[in-house]
Amino acid sequence: MTGPLVLGIETSCDETAVGIVRGRTLLANIISSSVEEHARFGGVVPEIASRAHLEAMQSVIAEALTQAKISLNDLDAIGVTAGPGLIGALLVGTSAASGLALALDKPLYGVNHLSSHIAVDALGEDDELEPAIGLLVSGGHSSILKVADLASDVLVLGSTIDDAAGEAFDKIARLLELDFPGGPAIDRLAQSGNPAAIDFPRGLTHANDLGEHLYDFSFSGLKTAVSRYLQQTPAAIRADVAASFQEAVVDVLLTKAIGAAKANGFESLIIAGGVAANSRLRSEAARRCESAKIRLRTPPAALCTDNGAMVAALTSLMVQGGQEGSPVGFGADSSSGLERLLWR
Ligand code: KG4
Ligand code: ZN
Repeated sequence: MTGPLVLGIETSCDETAVGIVRGRTLLANIISSSVEEHARFGGVVPEIASRAHLEAMQSVIAEALTQAKISLNDLDAIGVTAGPGLIGALLVGTSAASGLALALDKPLYGVNHLSSHIAVDALGEDDELEPAIGLLVSGGHSSILKVADLASDVLVLGSTIDDAAGEAFDKIARLLELDFPGGPAIDRLAQSGNPAAIDFPRGLTHANDLGEHLYDFSFSGLKTAVSRYLQQTPAAIRADVAASFQEAVVDVLLTKAIGAAKANGFESLIIAGGVAANSRLRSEAARRCESAKIRLRTPPAALCTDNGAMVAALTSLMVQGGQEGSPVGFGADSSSGLERLLWR
């Protein structure tokens, strides 16, 4: 095992998560989630999330160190999610990371949550991923990216113009009276449904949309169509609705991402973010990429949703690339886009 020993802290939403990597090797991944405290509100409540981070932080760090069999003094760098995310939640993580970096006199890296979703795919792999097209699909974002270098050069080709893919899963799950978060619940229900039962709309795929919105997504029309279908069909088969909705999302995501890879002459596609845990997206991506002769990379499902290993992975790539860290006291940014990979 070679490379820098890095601890990564993630607190952008409802997971207090700490990961430790050595170079590209995962040594520890500990997650404490407050999801059950939010479930009865049907979404994440920022104040509850921040308090849960404060309560869990120390023990999650301690558990990660034990799992990795290292002590704090062994670390070469500390990484932390600096944005985007819930501001109060981010501040708990950045404060903890700054405190550690100061006390230990180690470099501190404030990194982008979205690019760390993609960078987690580097773990356990020696071969370079780049250049690649990235399809980032999470609860707050859905984008197609041109990834020249995971740690320093990521360009957004297109994004959702309304709901994110995960948000669409969560909203449709609510209509189907499923648990929060909705993605895994729809994934499970869809297993027993027919994906071809209902022909739901595929947003921004018509010829007249493709000029301006070639790599953009829109899921609000799909949401309306599902809602209307449920209102007008008292005997609707919920599993068919879930499977047909999921199929529409998967179809649009893959048509655009594989289209971007072909049009830009890229041979690799990385799919990452919480929705990349979706079983239908994973199997269909494998099938379509094989026939398009595109190398597909997706993190293991457990590393697709928020975790600290992804922050440690991106930080490790930055340290290996010789990038300098962030100044202690840097500000978190709740709405940062992907252009800001590292806080300076
Ligand atoms: O990346 P993530 O953990 O957090 C954000 O950065 O937003 O993504 C969370 C999103 C949620 O909307 C959740 O419903 C969705 O990912 N998700 C899934 C699945 N697992 C999580 N969506 C579809 N199928 C899944 N199996
Ligand atoms: Zn995320």
